[in-house]
Amino acid sequence: MPEVAVVVPTFSEAENIAKLHGLLIEALGSESWELIFVDDDSPDGTADIARKLSLQDGRVRCIQRIGRRGLSTAVLEGALSTAAPLVAVMDADLQHDESILPAMVNELRSHDLDVVIGSRYVAGGSTGDWEQGRKDISRIASRLAKGLVPADLHDPLSGFFVIKTAVIRDTARHLSGYGYKILLDLFASSGRPLRFAEVGFTFRRRTHGESKLDSLVAWEYLMLLVDKRIGHIIAPRLLFFVLVGGSGVALHYLVLTTLFLGFSVSFTVAEIAGTVLAMTSNFFLNNLTTYRDQRLVGWRLVRGLLSFYTVCGLGALANIGIAAYAFSRNLEWAISAAAGIVVGTLWNYLATARYTWGSRK
Ligand code: GDD
Ligand code: MN
Repeated sequence: MPEVAVVVPTFSEAENIAKLHGLLIEALGSESWELIFVDDDSPDGTADIARKLSLQDGRVRCIQRIGRRGLSTAVLEGALSTAAPLVAVMDADLQHDESILPAMVNELRSHDLDVVIGSRYVAGGSTGDWEQGRKDISRIASRLAKGLVPADLHDPLSGFFVIKTAVIRDTARHLSGYGYKILLDLFASSGRPLRFAEVGFTFRRRTHGESKLDSLVAWEYLMLLVDKRIGHIIAPRLLFFVLVGGSGVALHYLVLTTLFLGFSVSFTVAEIAGTVLAMTSNFFLNNLTTYRDQRLVGWRLVRGLLSFYTVCGLGALANIGIAAYAFSRNLEWAISAAAGIVVGTLWNYLATARYTWGSRK
């Protein structure tokens, strides 16, 4: 029976799979372990390579997810798939130093801890040959986690740790699941303070494949922070939609006042212009922020814009209709417009979540 399940999220890591397996055999020695790759249908055939490896070594298996992305949810699914009492989470790209795994496991067992973290920011640890820019980003990102993790945890953004599987199972339903930072998510979502220790290691250079760190990863980190700080009040996606809606309202009023007050255009025509411009701007801003993880590009962007116009056409009609009706009943022009906007925005949120982006969360 395996004591330690090494869970490795992969996306296009074909060249690193066999190397990592070899390094783990060497590092883990007499420990009883299994190795679980969780691959998000990598185009480079990572899953096939992992399965080929399972035919040679029964301790290896691969979970292949279709139409899904995300390091955190991959780690979660890998961890939930094992009966081993301990889970070691690490990257496939050999940047995490597998040789400290036995020390991490020993530390966890001998002090009865919940989690032992491979850390870049304690004695014996370093970021290796990172350039200043990446060091700065890492430091700022760590600081943003303040308050969500214990003050004496030095590397809350590490993706390298050994944890009691039961802790993951207990926390699984409360995890945010956004993006990359599963360790931070675990600390912030656990119902009790986790007992932890850190072991230093030097972050290695990636020699094969490419880092997936991009603007989407940054966006997901922001969503995770928002979710863990105020998620109990408002879902992050709804918050972003409302903020974008707010910018649309500002644009709407700008157009309305310019045309209606500045150029004496009729109220209804000024309303139509404001609505159409706000709708277009809202679509692109939502596509870049609220739905960045499901961002529409190419033809899907065109189709999305058309569907956005179509489903929001009804919202716009309601918006204009309600505003025009209120105005005709001698309500203040600004209040008339606001009434239309509230109804239109609610409709837009519900309808576009379903028809334009196909909300998954
Ligand atoms: N299944 C799956 N799905 N795996 C993914 C995905 C995904 O969407 N995105 C990335 N991975 C895998 C990569 O294949 C790799 O094995 C690991 O997750 C880390 O991805 P990298 O792209 O190499 O991340 P990094 O080097 O920038 O960041 C790493 O180091 C940070 C600092 O310690 C990660 O481990 C971070 O979690 C960590 O905070
Ligand atoms: Mn990496």
